[in-house]
Amino acid sequence: TEPLRLGIAGLGTVGIGVVKIIRRHAALLEARTGRPVMISAVSARDAGKDRGVSLTDYAWETDPVALAVRDDVDVFVELMGGHEGAAKAATEAALSAGKDVVTANKALLAIHGQPLAEQAERAGRVIRFEAAVAGGIPVIKSLTEGLAGNEITRVMGVMNGTCNFILTQMQATGQGYNALFEECGRLGYLEADPNLDVGGIDAGHKLALLASIAFGTRPAFEDVQLEGIQRIQLADINAAADMGYRIKLLGVAQRTARGLEQRMSPCLVPANSPLGQLEGGTNMVVIEGDSIEQVVLRGPGAGEGPTASAVMGDVLDLARGLRIATFGQPAATLQEVPAAQTGLP
Ligand code: NAP
Ligand code: HSE
Repeated sequence: TEPLRLGIAGLGTVGIGVVKIIRRHAALLEARTGRPVMISAVSARDAGKDRGVSLTDYAWETDPVALAVRDDVDVFVELMGGHEGAAKAATEAALSAGKDVVTANKALLAIHGQPLAEQAERAGRVIRFEAAVAGGIPVIKSLTEGLAGNEITRVMGVMNGTCNFILTQMQATGQGYNALFEECGRLGYLEADPNLDVGGIDAGHKLALLASIAFGTRPAFEDVQLEGIQRIQLADINAAADMGYRIKLLGVAQRTARGLEQRMSPCLVPANSPLGQLEGGTNMVVIEGDSIEQVVLRGPGAGEGPTASAVMGDVLDLARGLRIATFGQPAATLQEVPAAQTGLP
């Protein structure tokens, strides 16, 4: 049987997690898809860095664009990050060269997702991005497949592991912001620019992607009303706890009579509710639809194993020939919904 051949650009937390799964579970992956899943080539900035796993079986490309268009690559796996530069150029090059794309890059898709999806549609290719939202929780697959028979009325949840870790650990341990920030780095949770995490921007990217899938709109990150957790003090957390509440960076996207409302901001939730009990890097996504009423998904939202697991879910779908696109296809069916404001800054 023909193998599915991957080109992986980015060998950091997520990329190395993917390499490890493919090495550890080669036989299992082949049994599940009916064909070998192999890595042809990899790319990162520093060819000399010890990454804790042998890469000598794979061709090395310094330039991710060159990796993306190689003849021995069927699927380009983009795990570099950033919404401009190498990630965007290599994704465009991969689609132009007739490759499917799997990415964990929510910033790229929240900002450029629609034109990229249209490029993929023209090329007859797909972009898959399960890992971009809520780490190891299969939330995109749930929306696009299992819940596809519903009219979705609302999606909401906690979608940034860093913020949830900092908010819960501040209260549990009394540790300061800086020490917890460093711990998030050790756990592999942080974005290359951690201001994206604590500023609520990363979670806003994720909400924009979920909203676009749920409501059939183009991703409109610019319409997400954002407030991060930088101004939350231990005193605020303790005052909330005294009243029986927790502070969570909570996202909500819903269609209202005024249009599509998207907000991501610190909110009080009851301490004894499922959201209130969410600890550490765990995420929770709540999906409401006309037939299901409510589905609650909970799981690890960041870090090597969970994120690599989500990347592999997409890769295995492609290995099985399940080339289902998620948003922006067909472009002609996009809903145009005005943005509703809620008064957040
Ligand atoms: P990371 O640990 O910082 O790794 C990034 C990798 O990309 C590094 O190997 C780096 O090379 C490589 N890279 C960066 N710029 C490059 C360029 N111009 N050319 C070639 N290689 C380049 O990042 P990460 O945490 O794995 O995240 C990767 C992506 O997954 C991001 O889009 C992030 O938002 C997303 N994501 C991460 C998580 C998580 O929990 N970490 C969860 C969900 C989604 P060097 O190693 O040589 O510097
Ligand atoms: N920096 C992100 C977080 C990684 O902390 O949730 C997962 O998307």
